Amino acid sequence: MYGYKPITLQSEASYIENLCDRIEASLDAGYMPVDAFQDDRVFRAEMERIFTRSWVFVAHETELPRSGDFVSRRIGLDQVIVTRTSDGAFNVLLNHCRHRGTPVCMEDAGNSTHFRCPYHGWTYKNNGDFVGAPELSMAYGERPDRKIWGLIRAPRVESVYGFIFACLSEDGPDLKAYLGGAGWMFDAIFGLHPDGLRVLAPPERFIIRADWKSGAENFSGDSYHVGTAHYSATLSGFAAGDLRNNGDKADGFLFENGHSFIGHRFPEWFGPEFEFWGYPPELREQFDLSRLDDVQLHMLKTVPPTIGTIFPNFSFVRFPSAASPGEAPSAYTDVRVWQPLEPGVMEMWHWQLEYAFMPEEYQRTSYIAGQFGFGAGGMIEEDDTVLWEGIARFARSPLARRDAIPLHYKQKRSDPDPDWKGPGQHFTTTYGEYMQEGFWRRWVKDIRGADGGGSHNG
Ligand code: FES
Ligand SMILES: [Fe+2]
Repeated sequence: MYGYKPITLQSEASYIENLCDRIEASLDAGYMPVDAFQDDRVFRAEMERIFTRSWVFVAHETELPRSGDFVSRRIGLDQVIVTRTSDGAFNVLLNHCRHRGTPVCMEDAGNSTHFRCPYHGWTYKNNGDFVGAPELSMAYGERPDRKIWGLIRAPRVESVYGFIFACLSEDGPDLKAYLGGAGWMFDAIFGLHPDGLRVLAPPERFIIRADWKSGAENFSGDSYHVGTAHYSATLSGFAAGDLRNNGDKADGFLFENGHSFIGHRFPEWFGPEFEFWGYPPELREQFDLSRLDDVQLHMLKTVPPTIGTIFPNFSFVRFPSAASPGEAPSAYTDVRVWQPLEPGVMEMWHWQLEYAFMPEEYQRTSYIAGQFGFGAGGMIEEDDTVLWEGIARFARSPLARRDAIPLHYKQKRSDPDPDWKGPGQHFTTTYGEYMQEGFWRRWVKDIRGADGGGSHNG
């Protein structure tokens, strides 16, 4: 009925190839095949072709302030330990003993110079080197080579403004090149003070029965849902203004590699005090803006970036909101990872951060405002997560699959801003779903693996 052929039994590879064809043809026509949002074969392809090749966020440096600190994280399905060694370096180690594969670290976070496997006792330094094992000479005669039998290390680990990203592939662009124009956005969002940001509390995490892409795609450019899904935030006085009809109060910033941001025209929408997200003037004065260009400065005054996604699964939000109804709004900063667990199931991780130079009281208020919005029980968070669960259920619908019923991706398009002087493309509205399209086109490119094994070029 929509020009699609129903899916019949096919080999996995040809199903994936066919799905990529259908997504590209659908995006051209303003549709999306629903099975992209939950399918075992899609999930396997994503784990193999996206998460072992992309730069994936694992931790913020301020979670690991001391030598020996570590946190347990995941890159796709791979469990990793992020460690800080005495030389100050950050290491991302696969959390599997080289003897039989048992995890060597069972803690979420801690401080240790070594990890000792609980199964037979093989022991590793916190940089991954193999150190020794019980009954070494009796069991092995010679010590296994400490470099060869160390924990597997992510070959590349890089930070930007304290955000540690790891890549499980040796090939492909460095983090700066991968971020491309989105790095310019990071400068404007996270680079406003030499003391940097700090994580305000350990990350929260909870399981959602929704596909990881529902969150990533939503944060890539869906301003349209805010007026409906989050209207309760307007009614309750939590939001700083009326959230309805905000697609035309929002700009889109579309970059290469599937990264994109929304900015909201807060001064026009909420009032002139909402330049720079509404940070109070005495704090704004302490920002060091000397490294920003004129386009970035103009953006922060008129349309500060509020929401965004770095492909594949890292997202950002900074919004002014009250810590309780009626109070003056504080800008809160939240970053999140849409952690795939299994087809149609993700674990949502989120961190709240604030500029380290800001007074304790402001950090506390911004933390509370962020918790009300995007904490595990936050009103915005709960609005979204229940809606995304429905998408995964639709993707499993036998009827939707039998008839290849598509989703609608066909909002009215507008041309990019011809006068834009910054990187990427700028749109003066978020209607058009072009940023979601950017996310999906990148997804198809990775799933097709056009770059060849292990490499990951923009
Ligand atoms: S599995 Fe780790 S020591 Fe045997
Ligand atoms: Fe939302």
